[in-house]
Amino acid sequence: MKENKIRKFHIETYGCQMNFSDSEIVASILTSQGFEASDELLNADIILLNTCSIREHAEDRVRKRLHYFRSLKKKNPGLTIGLLGCMAERTKTALMEEEQLLDLIAGPDSYRHLPALLAQAESGQKAIDTILSSDETYADISPVRLETNGVSAFISIMRGCENFCSYCVVPYARGQERSRDPQSVIREAKDIFLQGYREVTLLGQNVNSYQWKDGGETVNFPLLLEKIAALDIRLRVRFATSHPKDLSAELIGTIASHPNICKAIHLPVQSGSNTVLDKMNRKYTREEYLEKIKAIRSQIPDCTISTDIITGFCDETEEDHRQTLELMKEAAFDYAFMFKYSERPQTIAADQYDDNVPADIKERRLREIIELQQELSSSSNHRDLGETFEVLIEGISKRSNTQYFGRNSQNKVLVFPVTVQNRGEYVNVKVKRVTSATLIGDAV
Ligand code: 5AD
Ligand code: SF4
Repeated sequence: MKENKIRKFHIETYGCQMNFSDSEIVASILTSQGFEASDELLNADIILLNTCSIREHAEDRVRKRLHYFRSLKKKNPGLTIGLLGCMAERTKTALMEEEQLLDLIAGPDSYRHLPALLAQAESGQKAIDTILSSDETYADISPVRLETNGVSAFISIMRGCENFCSYCVVPYARGQERSRDPQSVIREAKDIFLQGYREVTLLGQNVNSYQWKDGGETVNFPLLLEKIAALDIRLRVRFATSHPKDLSAELIGTIASHPNICKAIHLPVQSGSNTVLDKMNRKYTREEYLEKIKAIRSQIPDCTISTDIITGFCDETEEDHRQTLELMKEAAFDYAFMFKYSERPQTIAADQYDDNVPADIKERRLREIIELQQELSSSSNHRDLGETFEVLIEGISKRSNTQYFGRNSQNKVLVFPVTVQNRGEYVNVKVKRVTSATLIGDAV
């Protein structure tokens, strides 16, 4: 009988690290209610897709996947299929009606209701909850670590976003910005350290605006970082993502002065043209952005800087594009995520601007940006030749079982022959060769 059977759920996650972290919260909520997590899609009674809407491409992948699930459901009509995350709010009715195979839809602030929503779905009634909250942070929930290497973990420190960049759907899909109680963040970091993890990444759409007021004390982001870094020198602390307008001198100082706060900053620039930045509602100029880069490079000389770039935004001219290429060279980015602009429903850009850069021009500009970044990344790797880095071992290399791989503080991957140290331990590695994506060396 169904009632006595432990139901197995399988979560597939799309999109950003934030979503992976949310899937771990979902897994925790469900396992605490007697459900069992399954790595095997085909073994599961419940399949949950945690979705992303940031770009059209991400949504297309989810739709394709849903069509595959339709074939599974034909073979197993008892299967429950649910859609979670950013696509939930945006597409709820369309997806329920068009796709005709979803039993459940839950938005990013509705995960506590999942057990009840599943019960409703299993009783044959479609279940939808996409209400966004102004205070849900899941602070009290200890995530179940999924797909973990046992070395590095993610902790969400805030949710939502209120920057309303004109191209971006996040403020609509994930709601108001809210920070999580620092004590709960510190507790979670301490727990994972005791479980053997040695690296934690603090996550938020804009971590620089983290703020928690408690009685007389205000905890801002640099202070939170300091508190986590103080837990143990063997625990590395990373964070993502920073908005350039809020990256403070205080934060740069905090990173510089703590050896276990990683020397890697992800600072999405999006465009190098002031006209485009203004239209994007980014609230900084290229000059202000480059000033921040200068401050980072002078105070933390060994810091890597990565970025996000959108090409082909509404009205972007050839001159705007050239300015992006120039800024990339000046900033000398170590790494970049590069995207073609895709119009997202509900956003200010969709409402007010014309998506008027032709597809072939977007394509060509993206190619030029990618080619330039390949050169910049390659120079960045070549600068590391002969240098020695402290590497946190993450495991055996996929290509060879006689090689380890791990990362340095700068977030670059190093591959080197297996040493006496184990996964989760630190080892110094001297770089003797570089490829476009990896540093290859020997333990010293
Ligand atoms: N089109 C293309 N790229 C986008 N991003 C966000 N919205 C869009 C969009 N509509 C990119 C930005 C952001 C990254 C996470 O995704 O570069 O920093
Ligand atoms: Fe989107 Fe801008 Fe918020 Fe980032 S800061 S999530 S790009 S609105």
